[in-house]
Amino acid sequence: VQSRLILGIDTSCDDTGVGIVELAPDGSLSVRSNRVWSQTVHAQYGGVMPELASREHVERIAAITTDALEQAGVTLADIGAVAATAGPGLVGALLVGLMYGKGLAQALDVPFYAAHHLEGHIHAAAAEGDLHAPYLALVVSGGHTHLFDVPTEGQYVLVGATKDDAAGEAFDKIARLAGLGYPGGPAISEAAIRGDPDAVPFKEPLQGQKGFDFSFSGLKTAALLAHRAGAKPEDLAASFQRMAVQFLVKTTVRAADATGRDTVVVSGGVAANRALRGAFARTGLNVVFPGAGLNTDNGAMIALAGAAALREGRPASPLDGGASAYAP
Ligand code: KG4
Ligand code: ZN
Repeated sequence: VQSRLILGIDTSCDDTGVGIVELAPDGSLSVRSNRVWSQTVHAQYGGVMPELASREHVERIAAITTDALEQAGVTLADIGAVAATAGPGLVGALLVGLMYGKGLAQALDVPFYAAHHLEGHIHAAAAEGDLHAPYLALVVSGGHTHLFDVPTEGQYVLVGATKDDAAGEAFDKIARLAGLGYPGGPAISEAAIRGDPDAVPFKEPLQGQKGFDFSFSGLKTAALLAHRAGAKPEDLAASFQRMAVQFLVKTTVRAADATGRDTVVVSGGVAANRALRGAFARTGLNVVFPGAGLNTDNGAMIALAGAAALREGRPASPLDGGASAYAP
């Protein structure tokens, strides 16, 4: 048996991502390339404009694919399978990568896998040594705060989710409020180094809940009030970050105790946060984080999800499947 190369595409939002992953005969996975074009046109609107996002994906996808092939040192003829995100995301944006991926698969006569964006985020950690079910997966990004139990490969049981804002959204909004810039996650984490985490008393959300849900709107309101009362931006950053981290880690640890899982994957843009990584490392759980460049949206994570499907012998996806904004 030879190594197989899987090309993955993600165009779910405002990043055009294409990556190539190698599936070795022994089943191990490695990232051969990962190219992301981050759209900047949206900055002037203060949010992602769906139609502009789709158009930029159309203009960039072929060049980013060529880039990814070159970075991996291969040609299209070497690709053994193609995976692309079918949802959730902006439908117009998703369709660009999905149609491009299906076209490639058909032209190359290789299997096509429609991928779930969150399955991609979870699989972003699959290149970090051995990752085998069962495990818990916490996806914390700008759009999602979802905690899954993965009892067997390919099966995802949602055990908790945010009731309002996503974790990354809270970082972004509080950073904007404090005048710390965009994207808010890195800005907060950098400002927090200079701040006092005891300066602003944040209350832990959903205290006493039996479940494993998340909520960030209360922290956002508390941050607004503290800001109006004159809290320093770096103190606000340090205090908010500590509470957000404590809340995410405590809830995940309770879920691990309840399910008996001892391995936790933490992925998505917020998983790049140093304080969060440190706190998870101190839990005693086997915590797996994606490698550099694999936390935020990218194509390699979709290739990793496709490679896992291929490795498990899952049937390829039909070429007439559509994109979905709210993929289940
Ligand atoms: O996964 P991602 O690229 O996009 C979505 O699918 O949403 O995540 C982006 C989010 C943004 O909200 C950004 O502020 C946050 O991840 N983020 C961070 C850090 N780096 C990025 N949040 C906290 N600390 C960081 N170092
Ligand atoms: Zn994402």
